[in-house]
Amino acid sequence: MPRLGRVIAVANMKGGVGKTTTVVMLAEALAADGNRVLVIDLDAQASVSYCLAGDDILAELIKDRLTITSYLTDRLLHQRRRSLREFVRSQISDVTHLGDPLDVSLIASSVGLRLAEREIICELADRGFNLHGTEGQVWSALSSCMAELREDFDYVILDCAPGISAFTEVGIRLCDVVILPTIPDMLSTLGLAAFCNSMWRGRLAERSSLPKPKRRPVVLVSRRIANVKHQALTVAALRQVAAGEDPEFDMFETEIPQAAAIAEGLSKDYPTFRLKWSPPVVAILNSLVNEVKGLFHGH
Ligand SMILES: Nc1ncnc2c1ncn2[C@@H]1O[C@H](COP(=O)(O)OP(=O)(O)OP(=O)(O)O)[C@@H](O)[C@H]1O
Ligand SMILES: [Mg+2]
Repeated sequence: MPRLGRVIAVANMKGGVGKTTTVVMLAEALAADGNRVLVIDLDAQASVSYCLAGDDILAELIKDRLTITSYLTDRLLHQRRRSLREFVRSQISDVTHLGDPLDVSLIASSVGLRLAEREIICELADRGFNLHGTEGQVWSALSSCMAELREDFDYVILDCAPGISAFTEVGIRLCDVVILPTIPDMLSTLGLAAFCNSMWRGRLAERSSLPKPKRRPVVLVSRRIANVKHQALTVAALRQVAAGEDPEFDMFETEIPQAAAIAEGLSKDYPTFRLKWSPPVVAILNSLVNEVKGLFHGH
């Protein structure tokens, strides 16, 4: 039976705010909740690909030309159309939950994506495409396969690069909801306003030729340090904005703390979901999963 997959982009213009960490935790927590999950790495740093696949499998995927880089260059530079389905590395996770491996699959990225993006932009410019035209081409390359991926998975999660690349821009506009991890400090909130203004509101957002994002983004407070006064004040200010009329963003109640257990969960091999994330983090992830499901089911 086809599934009714929801597409979630995890994005923020600012680097190092916990986007990739959120993608890994959310993917595994949704899988532990019984969902089939696909992670698509849209970042040339390939961080989520390393976290989920590990060095050896990632090297194999790159050698076999089974990364998003190959998909996009084949399609946009060489007019070779393949389905994104062919690039899915199924059930990549070794981590188990209640005896079964977590059902997390991956479309990996590679460091070559950065160069590929430049090549694609130059080649399309030579063929007479302006910026809007190029974004339109990237849009059709990624959105054309989304319908079939939605049939295969319950959730498709896109890990976006920091900054605003054509891939991030397209990811934000084709997903159902954007999760915006935000460290509650002054610089991150400045960046948040700039990001909302360029993607959802403001002159740049209006000028894009791509479809508008489907709904406003949802801020996820990340890397929260307990008992830091300026963080508490910033969170309160963000919550006030989100509770206002026609806010720039919504906000999850759940917050992700700055925790050694989270940094370690990301970088070490653990056999089970519960051992990997430790009980307090698992409780936080369960709460996040409920809120994410609520975004789609209206409760
Ligand atoms: N909640 C957390 N507690 C402790 N460490 C964290 C937490 N979230 C992220 N980190 C650490 O912070 C660093 C950056 O996190 P991450 O890679 O998830 O950020 P990012 O937003 O994806 O970065 P980039 O913009 O480079 O893609 C990593 O070393 C990660 O282990
Ligand atoms: Mg990242």
